Amino acid sequence: MYVVTGATGNTGHIVAKRLLTSGQKVRAIGRTADRLQSLVAQGAEPFVADLSDKQALTKAFTGARAVYAIIPPNLTTEDFRAYQDRIADAIAAALAAAKVQYAVTLSSIGADKPDKTGPVVGLHNLEQQLNQIAGLNVLHLRAGYFMENTLAQAGIIQAMGITAGPLRPDLKLPMIATRDIGAVAAEELLKLDFQQKQTRELQGQRDLSMTEAAAIIAKAIGGKAIGKPDLVYEQLPDEQVRPALTQLGMSLNMANLILEMAAALNSGYMTALEPCSARNTNPTYYEVFVAEEFVPAYQGKARAA
Ligand SMILES: NC(=O)c1ccc[n+]([C@@H]2O[C@H](COP(=O)([O-])OP(=O)(O)OC[C@H]3O[C@@H](n4cnc5c(N)ncnc54)[C@H](OP(=O)(O)O)[C@@H]3O)[C@@H](O)[C@H]2O)c1
Repeated sequence: MYVVTGATGNTGHIVAKRLLTSGQKVRAIGRTADRLQSLVAQGAEPFVADLSDKQALTKAFTGARAVYAIIPPNLTTEDFRAYQDRIADAIAAALAAAKVQYAVTLSSIGADKPDKTGPVVGLHNLEQQLNQIAGLNVLHLRAGYFMENTLAQAGIIQAMGITAGPLRPDLKLPMIATRDIGAVAAEELLKLDFQQKQTRELQGQRDLSMTEAAAIIAKAIGGKAIGKPDLVYEQLPDEQVRPALTQLGMSLNMANLILEMAAALNSGYMTALEPCSARNTNPTYYEVFVAEEFVPAYQGKARAA
């Protein structure tokens, strides 16, 4: 039996579905039975728990062949790092108490650094904490920048007619679709051929800058949609991004961590460590992501406006 945390989420639902279609038993963790229902319909056992609840997680992990472990985002908490530490503590304690032998975690590029990477510091600490557990074989998937992050640009295009954010326009990022991360995690969970404590870097199909991403989006939504032939990307100063994020409902603490991460990416402090290779690149083209996910999200916003 496999345990999947964040089972209704971006990567978790792919992991759970792949394991189920491979004929494996899956215990799917989420905070409500309702949201787990579609996985239950596909054969998963639902397990309702908060990931900060050590006792519940110990129960959930008991008997598991392997666990897929993530720390979900929480954009509204006033102390995101403390929230991450509570979840990492609970996951680590439960893996040890349940004597689980294999775990795959969702980590990030930049998790090699102990500080100054915003939310990624919590993933560095998760890696370190799980690496202390004797008898646990753990593989940390250090994923690149999610293509899904660019979905936020749909609203910015509607509001400002441009794409914008704190990242440098020319900064090449390893942009990866979360479906590809889920697929690799499932494959690793099925094989279970990693030993001791390991990391695996996951980059995208190719590195892309925000300027290149804007050009791909423009091609897909068409110049007419924005009333301009070109869709530009503009780097905005922190003083402009911070209030924009908090107005969208993000806590000030989280907004500041996002800006710290953007600065770490812009300076090159937070970066992929490996050159591109067949093992670390992944299949989904940004063009395909835009056609299948960005365009529907953009059109949905346009209809709602
Ligand atoms: N964004 C990036 O570029 C990037 C890059 C590398 C790594 N990462 C990391 O990727 C991770 C996010 O992965 P993801 O996108 O697969 O996750 P996700 O889709 O954002 O969330 C996964 C699920 O977790 C559940 N959840 C939320 N809070 C919970 C709690 N307190 N207890 C139990 N379940 C909870 C939610 O399901 P329910 O509502 O059903 O409970 C949610 O669907 C983060 O650690 C992030 O730092 C992100």
